[in-house]
Amino acid sequence: MQKKYETQVFHVDKNVEHLESCTQIVDSAKFVEAGELVAFPTETVYGLGANACSADAVEKIFVAKGRPSDNPLIVHIGDMSQLSQVASEVSPAARRLMDAFWPGPLTLFLPKQESVPDRVTAGLPTVGVRMPAHPVALALINVAGVPIAAPSANRSGRPSPTTAAHVAEDLDGRIAAILDGGSTGVGVESTTIDMTVEPPMIHRPGGITYEQIQAVIGDVAMDPAHLREKDAAPVSPGMKYAHYAPEGEMWLVEGDGASVRAKMIELLHQAKAQGLSTGVMTTEESLAFWKDSADADVALACGSVSDMTSVARDLYGVLRQFDEQRVQFIVAETFPREGLGLAVMNRLEKAAAHRIISV
Ligand code: TXA
Ligand code: MG
Repeated sequence: MQKKYETQVFHVDKNVEHLESCTQIVDSAKFVEAGELVAFPTETVYGLGANACSADAVEKIFVAKGRPSDNPLIVHIGDMSQLSQVASEVSPAARRLMDAFWPGPLTLFLPKQESVPDRVTAGLPTVGVRMPAHPVALALINVAGVPIAAPSANRSGRPSPTTAAHVAEDLDGRIAAILDGGSTGVGVESTTIDMTVEPPMIHRPGGITYEQIQAVIGDVAMDPAHLREKDAAPVSPGMKYAHYAPEGEMWLVEGDGASVRAKMIELLHQAKAQGLSTGVMTTEESLAFWKDSADADVALACGSVSDMTSVARDLYGVLRQFDEQRVQFIVAETFPREGLGLAVMNRLEKAAAHRIISV
């Protein structure tokens, strides 16, 4: 593809004081004001940002990502005064969630303000809003002076980016600039919740857990698609697309320890017999076992089983490493579907196109 842009990369230390006067932030904000795209770090994953008030700017996001046009975007705000520019109504329960979790990895679907372009919401009457907990993201939004619409900054279908290098892999030459603020922290996207239904419904499990939300607002529903009820169609447009997928064919094996390993080894041997390069996704605790056993060509650890935050943080980076090492067949262990584990398993099941074996 011919490069449309000479993508600029601005490095910025998220810990410096007065970020809002840093030239990197000021220059990035100018691109946003000019209707161009800037990738920026949030606490979850990198976002691909455009002025949310400009339909033309937002249109460029769909082109750069190759994103289906019926998939709405999340609008990011930098302070509470921007909320009324985006949402026309905020229920008491929504207000309580904002007080508890903003800035942070929680996106609320609220009735949209008329001025929000239909391009942002894909024609829906609701808009997804969140205030990210990342100093670079907040500084960019506040200096640009407009809410910023941003999906994850990956090409559609690829794992979401957790470093600026991941963004460059997917979008170099397609966007004006990348603000490099280091690795993101949470590693999986925000939790999304529809606040316009009773009880509010979680569409996508993410950085804020079901349990945390329930503790604040009581009654809350979960999109049945995440509870493994067969044939339930997901409620958010974006959740129906193949997502987060590595290029290799991925299988998940769940069950009790010893039989899981035996099944994983059996699958790896079958794949090898077919001439495929093989990989295993495990955790720090079992990495030595897989390295020693040599049943797979590549063994990668995704965090530690004793700390789900480390698994979430490393997940997308590990999926991309399998691609870099040209692994054609991957088997992975699974995690308990509770707390942050629900978000991790949701992403893993999609990466594996729902190829799960229970032993
Ligand atoms: O952590 C995150 O949420 C990251 C960072 C960049 O903020 N953003 C992100 O955006 O993950 P994206 O576009 O990759 O995922 C947004 C999801 C999609 O599944 C989309 O369909 C859904 O939210 N969505 C957005 N607005 C919606 C709405 N009004 N109603 C229903 N679903 C909506
Ligand atoms: Mg995404």
